[in-house]
Amino acid sequence: MTRVFSGIQPTGELHLGNYLGAIRNWTRLQHETDAIFCVVDLHAITVPKTPGQVGHDSLRLAQLLIAAGLDPEVCTLFVQSHVREHTEGGWLMQCSVSFGELSRMTQFKDKSDQHDFISAGLFTYPALQAADILLYDTDEVPVGEDQRQHIEITRDIAERFNSRYGETFVLPKAVVPRAGARVMDLQRPDAKMSKSLDSPKGTVGLLDDPKQIAKKIKSAVTDNDGEVRFDFAEKPGVSNLLSILGAATDQDPAALADSYEQYGQLKVDTADAVVALLEPLQARFRELEGDPAETARLLKVGADKARTVAAPVLARAKGNIGLLAD
Ligand code: TRP
Repeated sequence: MTRVFSGIQPTGELHLGNYLGAIRNWTRLQHETDAIFCVVDLHAITVPKTPGQVGHDSLRLAQLLIAAGLDPEVCTLFVQSHVREHTEGGWLMQCSVSFGELSRMTQFKDKSDQHDFISAGLFTYPALQAADILLYDTDEVPVGEDQRQHIEITRDIAERFNSRYGETFVLPKAVVPRAGARVMDLQRPDAKMSKSLDSPKGTVGLLDDPKQIAKKIKSAVTDNDGEVRFDFAEKPGVSNLLSILGAATDQDPAALADSYEQYGQLKVDTADAVVALLEPLQARFRELEGDPAETARLLKVGADKARTVAAPVLARAKGNIGLLAD
């Protein structure tokens, strides 16, 4: 079976764009592949955090992922720092990637512009990500377009390691889901819905109150020509609503456009559809939130499952380097 691995950082609340763009795809993949999903807390601390923040955010994110439909009985869901093979593997990867290669990473350039303190970990971040992926003999990595470069460098690292030390790692490939659920900011529909935009009115949080969700969608920026048409270039606001409604109800956004005469009804239906989509997720989240010990138990099961895959692969890598056996 195809082995799939992906990671998500515990930073802030998930929003509708994360859900329709990635997480919902993961919930499908868990049934079709051997899927492993990781809350990458060690990546999150590449930027400064207050004490306790990452642990809190990791628990919440895990609960949200489960509430969104990741089933720890079906897939493997775990927290990166619970499986110490990642840190150890990360070092091996750091020694198989060059300073020059790391210097070309655009995510590093973006993030180092946003912070005063630039940790060495932020610079070597892709090496840890490579360990995440390679330790599981991963075939496919479902990620957004912004991560393509990190998957490419992972392949380069694997190839270099294999040619230095002999066949060790499987070369993974990035699978960027075909455009479909394109979710833009409701106030700035030319920009992707994103935590980093810092646009609370334009972003639908997965845990937003239904009234708030409806209000945000009904106040979405559109345009003045009054025609409902699916055309992101000319009509980004209206197209975004069609795209969200289509994704929430499994319909084609372009076809949906024909059934609307005016923006008002489109907004009402989109708001209703999003609320209906998120209500069960929110209810499940509240249950999990009330029982953190149960989530901790599920995450431990996940970490144990992950380790049974990662430990032998790490041992293979160390053996192939020829480190003195302990
Ligand atoms: N760098 C990824 C992001 O910012 C998160 C991540 C860490 C990841 N390790 C991974 C994604 C392994 C895929 C596979 O979104």
